[in-house]
Amino acid sequence: MPLIPNTSNTDKRWWKEGVVYQIYPSSFKDSNGDGMGDIPGIISKLDYIKDLGVDIVWLSPFYASPQVDMGYDISDYQDVYGPYGTVDDVKELIQGCHKRNIRIIFDLVVNHTSDQHAWFKESRSSKVNPKRDWYYWRPAKYDEQGNRMPPCNWRSCFGGSAWTWDETTQEYYLNLFTPEQPDLNWENEDVRKAIYDNAMRFWLDLGVDGFRIDVVNMYSKHLPFADAPITDSSSAWQLAVELFCNGPRMYEFLEEMNSSVLSHYDVMTVGELPCTPEPEAVLRYVSSSAKKLNMVFQMDLVTLGFGKNEKFETTEWNLLQFKAFLDKWQCFINGNDGWTTIFLENHDQARSISRFGSDDPAFREISGKMLATFLCTLTGTLFLYQGQEIGMINAPKSWPIEEYKDVESLNFYNHVKKSTNSDEKALSKAHSAIQAVARDHSRTPVQWDSSQHGGFTTGQPWMRVNDSFSYINVRDQEHDENSVLSFWRKAIEFRKNYKELLVYGEFQLCDAENTKTLTYLKVHNDQKALVVLNFTKEEQTFMVPKEAHGQMDLVLSNSKTSSESKQLGPFEARVYLIN
Ligand code: GLC
Ligand code: CA
Repeated sequence: MPLIPNTSNTDKRWWKEGVVYQIYPSSFKDSNGDGMGDIPGIISKLDYIKDLGVDIVWLSPFYASPQVDMGYDISDYQDVYGPYGTVDDVKELIQGCHKRNIRIIFDLVVNHTSDQHAWFKESRSSKVNPKRDWYYWRPAKYDEQGNRMPPCNWRSCFGGSAWTWDETTQEYYLNLFTPEQPDLNWENEDVRKAIYDNAMRFWLDLGVDGFRIDVVNMYSKHLPFADAPITDSSSAWQLAVELFCNGPRMYEFLEEMNSSVLSHYDVMTVGELPCTPEPEAVLRYVSSSAKKLNMVFQMDLVTLGFGKNEKFETTEWNLLQFKAFLDKWQCFINGNDGWTTIFLENHDQARSISRFGSDDPAFREISGKMLATFLCTLTGTLFLYQGQEIGMINAPKSWPIEEYKDVESLNFYNHVKKSTNSDEKALSKAHSAIQAVARDHSRTPVQWDSSQHGGFTTGQPWMRVNDSFSYINVRDQEHDENSVLSFWRKAIEFRKNYKELLVYGEFQLCDAENTKTLTYLKVHNDQKALVVLNFTKEEQTFMVPKEAHGQMDLVLSNSKTSSESKQLGPFEARVYLIN
């Protein structure tokens, strides 16, 4: 007998239809002129966020941290990074959101801590410390020449070995990211209990409405640590995602987290799910009957054009690949009880206009509105990232490498420098790749107005403001009905007015073979919408699919063309209701 899911994906939930807006605290708004965004700065902009139509704020890490990885290296889960404010400020932020009927979720970073966390300090202090087993410690291996080697050949996500030698106790510890981010040992039950109490219940009891969960599929590693197959013969360190993502106890750990903590609150969870291309595997995380997570960020679409072995060895991508991934992840919940997410930006991605539209001044705004139409008509929970609503773009090519701050970008650049002996051509190629896809582009400060430093700070910003602030900023766009910001407001409102169709409806791709336009239907009972999007700088004609025959009413568009015309201008977007 077929299994009958206990809920279906058309069951209404606040976390399905809510629009989520991500805030990256260091770059959002500085309230005291020290050049760093902060919690009071966020509080001062809550009305702006509300006006956009946002229902849920996702706040990236604000916890105590040495900031080696911009707060994803946490040294105390229950304290706040000094420059951002205090726990009282965070409480005020929670209340400020709730007062406006906005929910707020925090980032839960529990695959690793900072090496400055008290747990790690204890763990590294001696082999017999009660917390020794809270992290992964292993003795060295030795090669034939007697050289000391890490326990296995895994490469860390930011390059180099995933193991760091510790002098005090003469052993290696595992760090899948930087050496300052040691991995917690989830196999140890005390660790899991400490995480639940310390990092989760503490904030849930203060009223937080859920979590975005960092690298949610890396807690269970394949043990014992074995070498990964050699895919890069030029390096001692090998890509090992198969060995540290989706390990054997992953589902069990998340079930436990859900039953012991999350299920006791009315909260939402969205897990970051790298390196998981199979729909069946993803469904096991997000099926509601499996009681693990509500949804995940699957990465196929946003990693389009990244190199296989190395992100910055970028390749050309095309619309056919884009559509194939879109179709796959829009449809994978059809007929089951899972749920999905929609996003093109976050703090780990370059700006979507620069990547998927065009930041050429002639097409910047129109392509931004086209992408807004796209995102607001897809099925699943919609996430947008600060600055996306005003069409912020990548930093220009003229920025020297010194303006880039992210550890991932700098590690890559330094690696190229070292391995090529500063070869000019290789360095210029690396620079171009960083200009295209580095995480830094999303981390430049939000452009509030056209005054110095884009109104982000009265002091010296921690990271240079994108030069475009004089013509891309909130102040100018707020009262301009043709601005990207006004379009986003309209598109979000439109999404809410047609939520059965747009949030919950079924996605049907129409022109899978077309390399220039993207056309799809959204269907819900007897309601139907047709979305047509031109992804190019040239005019294109579009075909009305046979399923869309009927009266076509143009209900959303980013240009002033006639609704009859089958010619689309550059990056034109239209949504028709079919009656
Ligand atoms: C996630 C975060 C990223 C961070 C990494 C390590 O991928 O989104 O910003 O660097 O985890 O915590
Ligand atoms: Ca500040």
